[in-house]
Amino acid sequence: MKIEIIKSQKPKTLKIYFVKKLERDSLFLPESKKLYIKIENSDSESYRLAGGKAMKILENEDFKSAVVESSKGIQYIIEGMLLGSYRFTKYKSKPKKFPLERLFIRAEYGVEDAIKRATTIAEATNFTKDIINSMPNEMTPQNVSKVAEELAKANNLEFSALQVKDMERERMEAFLAVGRASSNPPTLVKLAYRPANSKKRVLLIGKGLTYDSGGLSLKPATAMTTMKSDKSGASAVIGIMKAISELKLDVEVVGFLGLAENMVGGNAYKPDDILRAKNGKTIEVKNTDAEGRLVLADTLVYAQESEPEFDYIIDIATLTGAAVISVGEFTTLAMGHNDKLKEKMLKAGEKSGELVTTLPFNRYLKELIESKVADISNTGATRYGGSLTAGLFLSEFIKEENHNKWLHLDIAGPAYVEREWGYNQFGASGAGVRMVTEFIERLGK
Ligand code: BES
Ligand code: ZN
Ligand code: ZN
Repeated sequence: MKIEIIKSQKPKTLKIYFVKKLERDSLFLPESKKLYIKIENSDSESYRLAGGKAMKILENEDFKSAVVESSKGIQYIIEGMLLGSYRFTKYKSKPKKFPLERLFIRAEYGVEDAIKRATTIAEATNFTKDIINSMPNEMTPQNVSKVAEELAKANNLEFSALQVKDMERERMEAFLAVGRASSNPPTLVKLAYRPANSKKRVLLIGKGLTYDSGGLSLKPATAMTTMKSDKSGASAVIGIMKAISELKLDVEVVGFLGLAENMVGGNAYKPDDILRAKNGKTIEVKNTDAEGRLVLADTLVYAQESEPEFDYIIDIATLTGAAVISVGEFTTLAMGHNDKLKEKMLKAGEKSGELVTTLPFNRYLKELIESKVADISNTGATRYGGSLTAGLFLSEFIKEENHNKWLHLDIAGPAYVEREWGYNQFGASGAGVRMVTEFIERLGK
């Protein structure tokens, strides 16, 4: 959708009014080319939701252009409109285009910067959705790496990728075990944005399982569908790198993507195997479906060794079904050892329109991942507190001196939308992109 800022002359086209006082949610008068959308409250999310609602209504009308009439919240309205008008039609032989092509905004509101910010953030989020929604046969680890490489070229980011041989040399036995049974080889991608006047340095680590069949601990058929979305963490990191480089934030950010496919085969890793991670810790495999934490273990160790100086290390992962059970499908679960850092992310969530909450670790949960034969087990002794035991597992791969810099985001709930909500349509939501971009933006101020 093209956004045009116009001076005074109003085009003779549909006008969308965003108003506080309306007896119902919306009022559409197609004859007189007027659409009224009610704004529930004065917060930014109310404006985004209203923008999204307008798109929902206009999806089945044939207006090609519209003027947005609102003196307030224009940045959020546009963000909601751009997110709400996203459609994934790549595999349709007759794709239905979203009818609206041009949006006019009146310059008298003084909107240039706000519009630029809204479009950058929404486009980065929609870009992430495209990667996640693409089928697993197409978005293999190597092909996600190519998407990252193309972004690096376009946006002037550093790009490098470890292949199987490099990862063997780096002794990433846990990561390699997960990818071994797939004919699509794994890869560990590093993307870096290094501005001249950096105020802080952040490491981002994304879980990029381009498919999670569960491995030999095979998922039941109904749980396996949607598992193309197990690359949502890595895809979010790509989207964040796009957003922060286009917003030219004064924060250095290095992203690491752990890309692999968890499959079955004669050479598959097995429950009962013991793997040695890059930091020397041995892991008893109790369930090959708890694969994300194995990929992340080596990726986290590698990230801390390759970029030893940093202020924050944040991982983003569709890590546990338990996260969806505990807080629902709309909310990201943040975990870590530093309450102030968690608080910072909660603020970024609120400002960006992403829902996020926290749950606390404790010593008894940690005992659940003890192993009789190795240093640690890849699943908890009980199913209870599954997101927290997964988080505590990751914590074993964060150096002691970095514990307070680390935050783990489990996006298993909001990453993939099976019943649409808010301005999110069926499929990927781009969870993490807007929140973490907001978090980073605050560090640069
Ligand atoms: N990718 C899944 C987690 C997941 C589940 C994400 C549902 C999105 C929706 C992860 O690899 C997994 O399978 N986790 C297991 C862990 C268990 C075996 C300890 C789970 O959550 O059941
Ligand atoms: Zn799994
Ligand atoms: Zn997984």
